[in-house]
Amino acid sequence: MSEVEAIDPKHFRNVMGQVPTCVTIVTAMVDDAPVAMVIGSFVSVSLDPPLAGFFCTTESGTWQELRGADVLGVNVLGADQIDVSNACMRAPEERFEGLDWSVVDGAPKIAGTTAWLTLTPNQVIDAGDHEFALCNVTHIEASAEPSEPVIFFGGGYRTLAPKE
Ligand SMILES: Cc1cc2nc3c(=O)[nH]c(=O)nc-3n(C[C@H](O)[C@H](O)[C@H](O)COP(=O)(O)O)c2cc1C
Repeated sequence: MSEVEAIDPKHFRNVMGQVPTCVTIVTAMVDDAPVAMVIGSFVSVSLDPPLAGFFCTTESGTWQELRGADVLGVNVLGADQIDVSNACMRAPEERFEGLDWSVVDGAPKIAGTTAWLTLTPNQVIDAGDHEFALCNVTHIEASAEPSEPVIFFGGGYRTLAPKE
């Protein structure tokens, strides 16, 4: 019988650092205050019906706030918005300080993103030490200008090389 390899969590994290991800800010209005969390696991799930989602660690206090919201905003950050991601890694109450944002369709929209979506909750699915927030997609828009994304890879932010 083949033995199952024991996976060290730190090694797993390092290896998964080789998988590039998007950088999004998932937002909501909770008790009239804006809430934000940096999410790299945002993914489209289904075109018809339109579904998308993301994974959150069960240890996140911010996720506990987001999960009760009626509307979530997904702000997809561009190459020139690494400072926005850094801002949203500050203490929860400081995350919107200095940011250009407004409430659009019920959720905080950050100016200058490459794409903006709104979601409504569909299901929260257990996923080990994370939960998967499966959501209905209720609005989508992409920047009218050609735009480049910021990528998270190998524990840091990267931008793409020009197309060959
Ligand atoms: C680029 C990047 C991507 C991240 N992606 C996720 C993610 O997909 N899920 C998650 O739970 N945490 C993710 N995090 C970490 C959370 O953003 C961070 O731990 C969270 O803001 C903790 O907030 P809290 O202490 O307010 O709960 C990411 C952080 C960075 C910098």
